[in-house]
Amino acid sequence: MVSALAPRIAAVTSRLLDSVRDVGRFDLIEALAHPLPVIVIAELLGIPAADQATFRGWTDAILSIGEQDPQAQLDQATMNRVGAIVRELNGYLLSHIQQRRARPDDGLISRLLAAEVDGSRLDDEEIVGVVGLLLNAGHITTTALLGNAILCLDEHPAAAAERIMKRITDMEPRI
Ligand code: HEM
Repeated sequence: MVSALAPRIAAVTSRLLDSVRDVGRFDLIEALAHPLPVIVIAELLGIPAADQATFRGWTDAILSIGEQDPQAQLDQATMNRVGAIVRELNGYLLSHIQQRRARPDDGLISRLLAAEVDGSRLDDEEIVGVVGLLLNAGHITTTALLGNAILCLDEHPAAAAERIMKRITDMEPRI
């Protein structure tokens, strides 16, 4: 599923960069590295485009807690706030799973519903768990990689130039 998403990832990346094309100076994390993984994971899951902003709001709120000092004791108010957001997200995912049970599509959730190992299938809670894992495992890791990759290429302009020249010569149509 991820390899089939490659053209879509390129299109979303171009759309996100086009939105800052004329501003001259922009925050790469805010404009690209943070939104891109969530948009792609939402598409992977088959989350409708209309729900993606809400979905991103939930995941951003939950993940922003993860970016705080892991040693820091979360105060009760923050715990309650996160708990409420997680319940909303899980509630949304459970209703989405039930819709996919009734009307399967090409998304990952429908494939997880159809997946069978030794005659046993995943139940709704387990699928919510897999989705939570993908969000936690796939978001900040990718954001950090994109940010650090650009910093690294900025610090090594010769490597950056070589890379871009190779991309232009190898893959002209996509650029
Ligand atoms: C640059 C980005 C990423 C890096 C550097 C990265 C790195 C890793 C590493 C090191 C592990 C192994 C962790 C362990 O065994 O302790 C892992 C596991 C995992 N990652 Fe990623 N990851 C990235 C992006 C993603 C994305 C985009 C997704 C999904 C959308 C994802 C989903 C997972 C899952 C599901 C696991 C658990 C696999 C298992 O235990 O069976 N990761 N990742």
